Amino acid sequence: MLINDDSAIIRAEGLTRVYSMGATEVTGIRDVSLRIGRGEFVVLKGNSGSGKSTLLALLAGLDQPTRGRLVVAQHDLQDASQAELVRYRREIVGIIFQSFNLLPTLTVLENVCLPALLAGDPLVQVKPRARQLIDWLNLKSRDNHRPAQLSGGEMQRTAIARSLINDPEIILADEPTGNLDSLNGQTVIELLSELNRNSRRTVIVATHSSLADPYATSHICLKDGLITESLCEV
Ligand SMILES: Nc1ncnc2c1ncn2[C@@H]1O[C@H](COP(=O)(O)OP(=O)(O)OP(=O)(O)O)[C@@H](O)[C@H]1O
Ligand SMILES: [Mg+2]
Repeated sequence: MLINDDSAIIRAEGLTRVYSMGATEVTGIRDVSLRIGRGEFVVLKGNSGSGKSTLLALLAGLDQPTRGRLVVAQHDLQDASQAELVRYRREIVGIIFQSFNLLPTLTVLENVCLPALLAGDPLVQVKPRARQLIDWLNLKSRDNHRPAQLSGGEMQRTAIARSLINDPEIILADEPTGNLDSLNGQTVIELLSELNRNSRRTVIVATHSSLADPYATSHICLKDGLITESLCEV
């Protein structure tokens, strides 16, 4: 599944995802071709239903295309086996969702440690890394709390720490500020920008909000599953 071309960290050609719903078909994205360079901060825009989450799910290896080609960090995703996709999701991408997706029975520290433990790293190595991230995200006094005992901003910062524990090259965020007030939303976007600038991680954020616009190195606009060249009015 390794492709030897390092010119762009993400390359899609004719990427299409069609959902079959009984006899009818719904287009998620259609014929999307794009190249994203390493270290970019891409803001993905488009109306509700335009295909943003569909594209992010493909980039995240959570879903596979109906047609087309997708190569991310030299991993050819359209032909990947389920085992390869599991490894890819654990090691190459960090994924952040609007609804945080924390495990409710685990503490902040345990949620952050989990992806590294699942990847086989020993707890003695994982814990100090998790504590560093928790400190950086200003969650030190919350490390023993469970998600239900946190504010929305604290839950999203925990999710960011969790997404970083395996040191991914790419961070994918689907509406990361959608459940936050504007102050916490701004903090989350600034953290993503810091990760982009300081460690040259590639960041792709799908959002309806304009909070990320000042940090973007490029915008991608989707309309009815297609990339449009015109400016997004959302
Ligand atoms: N699992 C699915 N099964 C069937 N159709 C789906 C599925 N997921 C998405 N779709 C459809 O694909 C299209 C794109 O949806 P998607 O969730 O990617 O849009 P979006 O741009 O993320 O929207 P929003 O801004 O509301 O999050 C929509 O028409 C949607 O109804
Ligand atoms: Mg969406």
